[in-house]
Amino acid sequence: MKRSTDINNQIKYLPLGFFDSGVGGLSVYARFKKILPNENTIYFGDLKNMPYGSKSKDELLSCSRRILDFFEEKRVKAVVIACNTSSATTYEIIKNEYNFKIYPIIQSCAKVISDITMKKVGVFATTATINTSAYKRELQKYNPEIQVYETACPNWTSYIENGLADSEECVVDVSEKVKTMLLNKPDKIILGCTHYPYLMKTLTKYAPEDIFLDPAEIFVEFIKSDLTKSGMLNSAGKTGLEEFYVSANPKEFVKNAKLFYEVRRLPIVI
Ligand code: DGL
Repeated sequence: MKRSTDINNQIKYLPLGFFDSGVGGLSVYARFKKILPNENTIYFGDLKNMPYGSKSKDELLSCSRRILDFFEEKRVKAVVIACNTSSATTYEIIKNEYNFKIYPIIQSCAKVISDITMKKVGVFATTATINTSAYKRELQKYNPEIQVYETACPNWTSYIENGLADSEECVVDVSEKVKTMLLNKPDKIILGCTHYPYLMKTLTKYAPEDIFLDPAEIFVEFIKSDLTKSGMLNSAGKTGLEEFYVSANPKEFVKNAKLFYEVRRLPIVI
């Protein structure tokens, strides 16, 4: 008993790893830091392989494994897959390959999302996520009656990562997708890619803000409650340490991150 308490006491000070193809996961990370500022964290943005949405399952698997191997070397206590595409395509395969907890965004949020009484739900996500129907499958596990309308948005991540979120091309693309989705009369539209909250200004030109559901908040609450239950929450009363890594383009990462998070030092390229 004493021994396991000691181990838990050590584990809780270890960092949590977060990853995404780029700045998208910072929409989750920023919320996490707000509610759990004590946690030590490491963020990895896989900019060299961005966008994930157009990659095959095998390519995505090798991206996930490379990043999880890196986090294993860093001795993390858990990894947050702050990427819907990786959660949809690789989580079920890699979930038992590592000795730390792995939190996938879609599977962690599905129950709470399906509890918010909804009959019709729209989902905007990457092509790879939509091809798996992961949102539909996970939501219908908890509410078989729910109707799910899924739309792939193949270019949205690249607009954001290339600093083109305000371009005419992006605005036209977003407006067309929103208008078409609204024809289904959804109660909510899930932003099923962590990059899409970066487009909120444009999205809300074509539909009311409260129709859009960014799973980040639900996700962060889920992680907090699970860390608490497993005795892994870092309750040390000081601000957590942060490390940022990318696989390419550190300057672009810092610049595009700004809307959600101030990355104060250039990330290390690995
Ligand atoms: N932001 C990621 C997601 O949540 C990946 C986007 C991409 O690289 O295509 O799906």
